[in-house]
Amino acid sequence: MNNIFDKNLHVAIIMDGNGRWANTRALARLKGHAKGADRVRHIVRSSLDFGVTHLTLFAFSTENWKRSESEVAGLMSLFKQYIKSESKKLLSNGVKVLFIGDRSRLDSKLITLMNELEVLTKNNVSLTLTIALNYGGRDEIIRATKLIASKVKLGELIEDEITPEVFSFYLDTSILPDPDLIIRTSGEYRTSNFLPWQSVYSEYAFVKVTWPDFDTLMYKNILEEFKARDRRFGLVK
Ligand code: FPP
Repeated sequence: MNNIFDKNLHVAIIMDGNGRWANTRALARLKGHAKGADRVRHIVRSSLDFGVTHLTLFAFSTENWKRSESEVAGLMSLFKQYIKSESKKLLSNGVKVLFIGDRSRLDSKLITLMNELEVLTKNNVSLTLTIALNYGGRDEIIRATKLIASKVKLGELIEDEITPEVFSFYLDTSILPDPDLIIRTSGEYRTSNFLPWQSVYSEYAFVKVTWPDFDTLMYKNILEEFKARDRRFGLVK
C-alpha cells in the first residue's frame, strides 16, 4: 500500500508493553526493549511506505528514571546502538531525525550521537522521525514557560503577544505540526504526559497488543480506520 494519505500526516506512538512482552516469555525486560527497537525499524519503514510524513515515538519519559538502574542503563545503550546502526539507512531513506525532551540529564556520548544524527539528516524531507527522549509534556511546558518569562523580563517579548502560536514556538516541537493520530499499544487507556499541549485535537487509537507484537498490518488497519474518521476541530460541518 503506497501513500494512503494525500497530505501531511503526523502519527505519534506510545510504545508500551515491552516489559510485559518479555515477562510472558520469561525473558529479561531488556529483551523486550530490544525487540521493541526492532519494531521501531519496521514501523519507520512502513511509515515511509504509507506516506506518513511525521512519526513521533515516545522512547523514554521523564518518569522512566524511576526504573531500576540496570533497566535505565540498558535502555540508554539501546538508544546509542539504534542511532549507530540505523544512521546510514535513515539518511539514505530520506528520514530527518529530531529529538525532543530535556537532554541535560542524558549522558554526553548519547547527546553527541543525537546531535550528529540531527545534523546528518537535516536536509531530508520524506519522513520526519521525532524521538522523545527524557520527554514529559509538563516538563516541556514548564521549560517553555521559563524561557518566555525570561524573554518578558528582558523586554524581548510583551505579555500581550503571548498567544497559543507564540507559546508553541517555545516548545520542543516548535517546527512540527500537531499530531493527527496518537497510537498507544498494550491495552492501556492513558496518555501519560505525552504531547499534552499538541494533542488537543488529536485522534487516538488504543490497541491491545504489546509494542513488540505491533506489526505493519495492524498499523495499516489503524491508518485506514483513522482516514475514515470525521475530524471537525470544533467546527460544525
Ligand atoms: C514501554 O514498555 C517502553 C519503554 C519505556 C521504552 C521504549 C523503548 C523502545 C521501544 C526501545 C527502542 C526505542 C528506540 C527509539 C530505538 P514498558 O517497559 O513500560 O512495558 P510494560 O508496561 O509492559 O512494563
